[in-house]
Amino acid sequence: MDGIIQPKKIGIFGGTFNPPHAGHILSARAAAEQLGIDLLFFVPTGMPPHKSLPEGTPTAQERLEMLHLAVDGIPNAKVLDLELKREGKSYTIDTIRTLQGEYPHAMFYLMMGTDMFQTLETWQEHESLLSLVCPVVFNRGEQGETERNAKYAARLKEKYGTNSICINAEPLVISSTDLRQATEDGTWNKFVFSSVYGYILRKQLYGVQKDLKHLSMEELRAVACSFLKAKRVSHVLGTERAAIALAERWGAVKEDAQVAALLHDCTKRLEMEEQLKLCEKYGIVLDKLEQKTLKLLHAITGAEVGRDVLGVSDAIYTAIRWHTTGRANMSLLEKTIYLADFIEENRDFSGVESLRTLAFEDLDEAMLLGLNMTIEEMNERGNPVHFRTLEARDWLKGTKHEC
Ligand SMILES: [Fe+2]
Ligand SMILES: [Fe+2]
Repeated sequence: MDGIIQPKKIGIFGGTFNPPHAGHILSARAAAEQLGIDLLFFVPTGMPPHKSLPEGTPTAQERLEMLHLAVDGIPNAKVLDLELKREGKSYTIDTIRTLQGEYPHAMFYLMMGTDMFQTLETWQEHESLLSLVCPVVFNRGEQGETERNAKYAARLKEKYGTNSICINAEPLVISSTDLRQATEDGTWNKFVFSSVYGYILRKQLYGVQKDLKHLSMEELRAVACSFLKAKRVSHVLGTERAAIALAERWGAVKEDAQVAALLHDCTKRLEMEEQLKLCEKYGIVLDKLEQKTLKLLHAITGAEVGRDVLGVSDAIYTAIRWHTTGRANMSLLEKTIYLADFIEENRDFSGVESLRTLAFEDLDEAMLLGLNMTIEEMNERGNPVHFRTLEARDWLKGTKHEC
């Protein structure tokens, strides 16, 4: 309708997210879907007014990073760090007022668990708050919970005119003790998403202490996910599957292929400045083209991080190192990773089908085709081709490249 600004429905889910568990995310998503919410904010609390954070709690920055990993990739969802930036206690009313300033026509749906819902009248400026939001409470299936919440919702309606919504949600909660136990039992994936668990492993949070250089494949996969933007996870897992298939076909060590595939893009999310910092840290001297080409740097820094943080072998190190440009005299594992990255199931460029078929018929011919495709594409775009790529092609053609 012309001239009328349609109000947006905004969901707000605050909490300490210590850690952000699967139940938080799945409940909020289910509620957002049920209520037709078109923007969902996850708001980590700085200093919660109702409880103090237990000793050994990760830093605010770590909680924020874990939440980013948990929320990344969810359509129309965002993490807001405004409470972490605000001095003093985190009052919801301040957050709502800020958001109201930004979205003056929106309806705000404030999501929370039963414990918080039942204490709403003790919140700072609760009367104002209850006039600005619609509380959404998650019933987690505890005995008598639904009735208690319905009763309290009726009270809020009668006293403040506030409409509340009760929603049945995931019964998952986790304490750090549960998390440690789940790590021992290998059942952590019931509680937290893989990327969050990988982050916990990397940072050794909640007393979870695993030797990063001797992780199981499942743990390593979680760590790999924690390095990635959500949109790249399917590519990396696809590369792992393609690497396994190629290793089985051509005889590379399967576990090495898996590790290299899982870590091959582990620094891909980093921008130029961070890439260059890593190069400096690891004493890498870049050539002229590398210095200005972000895409080339992640293979170099990824190999270093793989070796330094996760203790990968030299064979895996070089497979990561040369997965973008290739090089002359490539090992079987290097070719395996180069091609797995190229042909994994999510790739859909023109010609990928023939490259996929060829990769299982003749590995070197497939390498040559892959390299030629890259060179052609770079030429078409007017981009310079790295000399290692030309050397790799010429080596495969059986001739030495002459500059
Ligand atoms: Fe890559
Ligand atoms: Fe890749």
